[in-house]
Amino acid sequence: MTAGEIGTTAASEGAPESKGSEHRADPPDRRGFAHDVCIVGTGRVGLPLGLSLVEAGLRTVGVDLDPQVRDAVNDGRMPFHEPGYDELVARREFTITDDSSVVSQAAAIVITVGTPLHNHVETDLSQIRKVLEQMRPHLRPNQLLCLRSTVAPGTTRFVHRWLERNTGLRIGQDFYLAFCPERIAEGKAYTELHTLPQIVGTTDPRSRELATSLFSVLAPEILPTDYVTAELVKLFNNILRYVHFALANQFAIVADTFGANIHETRRLANYKYPRSFLAAPGFTAGTCLRKDFGMINEWSPYPDMLLSAWKVNEYMPAFLVDHLLRRTEVFDRKVAILGFSFKAETDDLRDSLGPKLYRYVQRQLPTRIRVSDHHLPDPIPEASVEYPRNHSLAEALEDAEIVFIATNHAEYGPALKELAETNPEAWIVDLWNVGEADEIFYQAKTVRK
Ligand SMILES: NC(=O)c1ccc[n+]([C@@H]2O[C@H](COP(=O)([O-])OP(=O)(O)OC[C@H]3O[C@@H](n4cnc5c(N)ncnc54)[C@H](O)[C@@H]3O)[C@@H](O)[C@H]2O)c1
Repeated sequence: MTAGEIGTTAASEGAPESKGSEHRADPPDRRGFAHDVCIVGTGRVGLPLGLSLVEAGLRTVGVDLDPQVRDAVNDGRMPFHEPGYDELVARREFTITDDSSVVSQAAAIVITVGTPLHNHVETDLSQIRKVLEQMRPHLRPNQLLCLRSTVAPGTTRFVHRWLERNTGLRIGQDFYLAFCPERIAEGKAYTELHTLPQIVGTTDPRSRELATSLFSVLAPEILPTDYVTAELVKLFNNILRYVHFALANQFAIVADTFGANIHETRRLANYKYPRSFLAAPGFTAGTCLRKDFGMINEWSPYPDMLLSAWKVNEYMPAFLVDHLLRRTEVFDRKVAILGFSFKAETDDLRDSLGPKLYRYVQRQLPTRIRVSDHHLPDPIPEASVEYPRNHSLAEALEDAEIVFIATNHAEYGPALKELAETNPEAWIVDLWNVGEADEIFYQAKTVRK
């Protein structure tokens, strides 16, 4: 073991037997660094990771440009909902600064900033480039840098070459670099950081050894590989889900076009048939799924399966409005939209299809649209729909003539059953079947008690 080593060497040695709360890492070899790890970008990925590393016994610090994130965490509060972390953040053992010079005091640096797409299909590397510029004067020999944001193939090589050109440090000789993708699902970070195998992409043995040592503190298994393979594993995991859901959505459109019921069709297709695993239809978006396909698609000049999947998933709000109009009018009616976050039981609005649905409904000139999502604040912070008010569920449903379920939060099933009593003629648009009516478009009176 030499400079900057963190945690243990063998993945299995560092893996917790159960949840991290019982696990303490072996004492790290700190070699003159005040911190074991510095997380740069402490958002939905970086903050849970930082807190879990602290819980595992590593001295971990964060850097973030967002004062709201810093203030909340430094005050002992989570800036967003992520189960399992409220008590950990309240201990205030993980603090966040806006001063990038802190990276010079860390044996390992983990980059977890955002990697969106530009408006057209092109990876936006600006946050990664900015972080590299910020850190450049503070990088020191023998540090390990782990890139953890989801990136297009070739990005770790870009970082490798950028570092060597701009710092004079040599990867594998006096500085170490690894791509260590995050594969958690939001809402499951606390568990999945301890249960998912960790992919570690490197080009030299020392970087692999150091990154393995770091992530063994949390992950039950380390899977070493090269940069591009590691980048593709992460993208393939996400894109597979995105394309699978697109197919489920396309089948829903096809079923409705032929007057069939997708929920029944799906149930029969999956029932005791060993080669069928058709997903339920739904709004497929969110900050990862909606953009990760572009990191591969941008390298192809042709329309491909990934672009088609994007088209299908992006069409779903229009499908709901368009196929409702085949049954009833929206013009001059009172509309409720239940759910606005990108998926169930989260307060994350980024890249949700809810606002898109809102805008399509608006085009039909209803008398009013009331949005309700108890996971989000009031007003809803979404500029593209002119900051709609966030109504209570009861307010949104009051006299509603049309109800769209835009996110399948658990509360909506019982609410629709109640609506069947209070407003039986109301039309419900329910892609996820939360009302268990086994239809996408139906009137409240058909909801089963
Ligand atoms: N959210 C998820 O569930 C998830 C899961 C797996 C992978 N990812 C990937 O992880 C990456 C981060 O996603 P996220 O959801 O955590 O994003 P996020 O926007 O929640 O967090 C990014 C953080 O980085 C900060 N930041 C941006 N530029 C900075 C800079 N120059 N210096 C310091 N801080 C800076 C932002 O203020 C923000 O707090 C993305 O590449 C994403 O695709 C996300």
